[in-house]
Amino acid sequence: MLSMELSPKTKPIGLIGHPVEHSLSPKLQNHIYTTMEMDYVYLAFDVQENMLQKTVEGMRSLHFTGFNVTIPYKEKVIPLLDEIDPQAALIGAVNTVQRKDGKLIGYNTDGLGFMHSLHVRGISCKGKRILVVGAGGAARAIGIYIAMEEPECIYIQNRTFNKALALSNCINMSYPSVITIPIINIPKPIDMIINTTSLGMWPKIEDNPLKGYSFHPDQVVCDIVYNPRMTKLLEYAQLAGCTIVGGIDMLVAQAIKAIEIWTGKIVPMEISNL
Ligand code: ATR
Repeated sequence: MLSMELSPKTKPIGLIGHPVEHSLSPKLQNHIYTTMEMDYVYLAFDVQENMLQKTVEGMRSLHFTGFNVTIPYKEKVIPLLDEIDPQAALIGAVNTVQRKDGKLIGYNTDGLGFMHSLHVRGISCKGKRILVVGAGGAARAIGIYIAMEEPECIYIQNRTFNKALALSNCINMSYPSVITIPIINIPKPIDMIINTTSLGMWPKIEDNPLKGYSFHPDQVVCDIVYNPRMTKLLEYAQLAGCTIVGGIDMLVAQAIKAIEIWTGKIVPMEISNL
């Protein structure tokens, strides 16, 4: 529950998606505003697709500071906005919208959030051989941001090979110096593994996207799944002595990056007690 005082001056920030009832964002965002004594309030709106355009216009006319966009509207919202940040355009999805001088500007903080969760641990992708598991929206956001740090190569493994091929072509076109290859079998050596699929997520917590894989203690293993915090993938990686990065950090970091866009405030990662 909110413990801050709301007043006519309190600035609203929204979340639009369908469904939104299980989203952790309202709890996380309002916790940050209360702790940082910021006069904002974050509200989730379950929006039917035929009301998306009216909702976006409503956000504009009600002077929302901004809003987050979640499944299934991250792509559909793009034509309704005035400007799109170049990285979000490349990713082809927007999860954060800022209202600035009456204009709605779209960003994608998923990739930024993932990078932040690495950087706070002093981990860089530069010169690394990286395996991305999955080739959906999250893989696209993460793949484009890791490519910016000039890893040696990015391997993409996905259940549907053609989607791995399409994502690797997209990264290759924008970052030709980074070797990006769709793969079926995992090559050696790999420095960093990133699971971007939903495998291992509650309630199917026994699922593991890398069943039978032999980890090496020098590897960094990341999972975007945050429920449970310790997925099977992370459990096995930790047992093998790897550095592990869980999905909750990316969730917090993408929220913090959105707040930075909306308010200009830098929020420390430690603020979250989710
Ligand atoms: P998101 O936006 O969260 O990334 P998405 O675009 O639907 O969601 O992508 C989900 C990813 O998880 C895809 O790479 C998907 O594989 P396919 O491209 O073959 O659909 C992968 N995925 C989901 N369920 C999976 C499963 N049971 N086994 C293997 N991969 C799975």
